[in-house]
Amino acid sequence: MKTACIILAGGAGKRMKSERPKVLAEVLCKPMLGWVLDAAEQFGFDEIAVVTGFRADLTGAYVSSRQNVTICHQPEQKGTGDAVRCAAEVISRCDNVCVLNGDAPFIDVETLKASLELHQTSGSDVTVITAAIDDPQGYGRIIRKNGEFTAIREQKDCSPEEAEICEVNSGAYWFNAAKLSETLPKLSTNNAAGEYYLTDCVEIMQRRSAYTSPNPDIVLGANTRGALLELNQLARIRKLSQLMEEGVSFITIDGIIIGSDVKIGCDTTILPNTVILGNTVIGKGCVIGANSHIENCKIGNNVQLNNVQAYDSVVEDDVKIGPFAQLRPGTTIRQGVKIGDFVEIKNSDIGVNTAVAHLTYVGDSDVGRGVNFGCGCVTANYDGINKFRTKIGDHAFIGCNTNLIAPVEIGENATTAAGSTITKPVPANSLAVERGQVRVIENWGKNALRKKK
Ligand code: UD1
Ligand code: CA
Repeated sequence: MKTACIILAGGAGKRMKSERPKVLAEVLCKPMLGWVLDAAEQFGFDEIAVVTGFRADLTGAYVSSRQNVTICHQPEQKGTGDAVRCAAEVISRCDNVCVLNGDAPFIDVETLKASLELHQTSGSDVTVITAAIDDPQGYGRIIRKNGEFTAIREQKDCSPEEAEICEVNSGAYWFNAAKLSETLPKLSTNNAAGEYYLTDCVEIMQRRSAYTSPNPDIVLGANTRGALLELNQLARIRKLSQLMEEGVSFITIDGIIIGSDVKIGCDTTILPNTVILGNTVIGKGCVIGANSHIENCKIGNNVQLNNVQAYDSVVEDDVKIGPFAQLRPGTTIRQGVKIGDFVEIKNSDIGVNTAVAHLTYVGDSDVGRGVNFGCGCVTANYDGINKFRTKIGDHAFIGCNTNLIAPVEIGENATTAAGSTITKPVPANSLAVERGQVRVIENWGKNALRKKK
């Protein structure tokens, strides 16, 4: 049996008041469409298609970061039924089609599997995933006659009695592909919105079932900024709870945002105002924060990051960084390194037990183990056109205020004198000094003052 998934992502999302497609609005800093694609990828469909429409350039660019996803374009946004029609070829290639809304991020693999099972055992033409929720405003209502599921009624088309119904359509469905192809041409725009409603398929089709999810959250979607905030709050608390169950500590959760894909080891404490995103993995026994922003990083065990910004970097075990330090992409900080205040490291490898204690920029550099940087050192890696690397051997001592003009190499155990600008290689074990002689003019201050008077 071949399965395909069609994710509807063409709508403009007028109620969001945005110039961008609604499905790119973010929940925990990941576009809603990304959540739905993740669930679809985990399920393992034979084919995944995304229907784009409004600002298809932006949605298409986001989708192109995923492997094996087909894009179907909907030229005009004439409703969800029309959107599915734009994926006709995908439907023709499979036996069962799952349609998902790109603006309902909490759909999950368990629900997709359980609903497919009902769809197959009941031999239905359509199986709608539903749930009972406290506030059904804005959702299509599930209409039942004597308990039997007969139709979905959109909010705009509901009678006052129907509007009271709390069981709603999640916007996720399983369809028998052949029946769907037969039914789509029969949809009309004869409704309050003047759109082709996908939901009308339910009434047209013969055999229908409703899979009522025990977890009402999976139906939640966001059409407005308010609903988006609610989804964010829900996802945030859910993630923090999961982490606590896995042994992560929070003294308070104030200002703490942790992305859904982040992994954190036990006995790690996250301090306030800390944002951890992307595919970040953090080890055990760390203290992260306060006021830190970590994105797509791999952090080892027993690491302390105090007021640190770190992006696309690796930090090994027993490292201490901060306060007020930044790791930019492509950085590896090896075991036991200490990085202090106002230090920026970019695209560099910092060797075991090296110390970069204060006010220093290390860019495009390969630094050995046990190196000491004094205060205020700079690797001058850029000549305005090209970037060059700096290489520093093990146990070198870089004196305060050294400028290393790349490309340049400092040998093992070499020393640069404070205030030197180094433009040529310094061999191992040597001292490099670049400094004007100091002239001392005694009593100069007094003379100068007298002249002024
Ligand atoms: C839809 C359902 C409603 C359900 C709700 C769940 C219909 C008619 N109604 O309503 O029963 O309770 O979802 O969240 O389907 N889209 C397109 N092209 C279009 C129109 C929409 O691709 O022409 C996409 C949107 O980008 C969105 C999804 O389809 O991702 C749903 O559209 P939306 O307008 O948000 O439908 P709802 O009013 O929420
Ligand atoms: Ca919606």
